[in-house]
Amino acid sequence: MEIVRSIADMQTRAEGLRREGKSIGIVPTMGFLHDGHLSLIARARKETNVVVTTLFVNPAQFGLNEDLEQYPRDPVRDEKLAAEAGTDILFMPETRDMYPEGYRTYVVTEELAGILEGKIRPTHFRGVTTVVMKLFQIVKPHTAVFGQKDAQQAAIIRQMIRDLNLDVRLIVAPIVREADGLAMSSRNIYLNPDERKSAVALWKSLRFAKDAIGRGERSIVVLRSGMEVMLQEARASSIDYIAFVHPNTFREIDEIGPPEVLIALAVRFGRTRLLDNAIVSVPAEATS
Ligand code: PAJ
Repeated sequence: MEIVRSIADMQTRAEGLRREGKSIGIVPTMGFLHDGHLSLIARARKETNVVVTTLFVNPAQFGLNEDLEQYPRDPVRDEKLAAEAGTDILFMPETRDMYPEGYRTYVVTEELAGILEGKIRPTHFRGVTTVVMKLFQIVKPHTAVFGQKDAQQAAIIRQMIRDLNLDVRLIVAPIVREADGLAMSSRNIYLNPDERKSAVALWKSLRFAKDAIGRGERSIVVLRSGMEVMLQEARASSIDYIAFVHPNTFREIDEIGPPEVLIALAVRFGRTRLLDNAIVSVPAEATS
């Protein structure tokens, strides 16, 4: 595995690979890699000739009072894990090169960037779309692999690719979970042992909704309040949202109907904010 830090070097490498007829896959990450990230690298490995994993803790997507400084970092371990998972090039740019003095340009996906996560973190998705657009310009990928874990982020990237005619194929890979069902996340490390045990309630509440829909429940009010009870019983410190949305557009739905609904939630345990979601298939024949 090769490590590239310079933007210009990465662009030259990408241009050369394209001239040789190689397909390039990109897996953008903020590091502190876990099995969720590694599954994306493995997926890119299967789909493309050359896998570029990017590691950059992007200041533009953190709010003023968020965890930019504390965000966990372990670049030495990340290098090893990225290589083992099948990365060909690890691109690790410096903040001063990505956002030099006088940086002024941002990419904004309207509407979608302002709901749910975007309502709570108003400049977050602007930071994400901007850095992903920059990474696409630098790595010149044919294919990009993102995780379903951040479902709204994936929907926004899909919208940006479509709106800006980016010649990039988007793959959204499934959520990788711990043995007890907690979705893997770099931020899980913030949980104390009690919170870690309680946090499995996110997944349990999604399973509850999935089972209830399978049994014919179609009321969003009933489903949401059942999930709330489970999260409160697990001593969640707050529930930011439990949203029922269309799986592709991420627009909130009024009624649960076939073929699928995406249930997304953001919940705090102690001071740690966790996200999870599930795409639930809705049988056409069920009665409510
Ligand atoms: P980060 O949180 O490091 O996540 C990098 C990628 O890994 C994202 O596509 C995310 O959805 C995926 N991922 C995280 N946990 C996962 C899990 N348990 N299973 C499957 N995939 C998982 O998301 C970001 O970084 C940033 O916003 C980024 C896109 C890199 C832009 O800065």
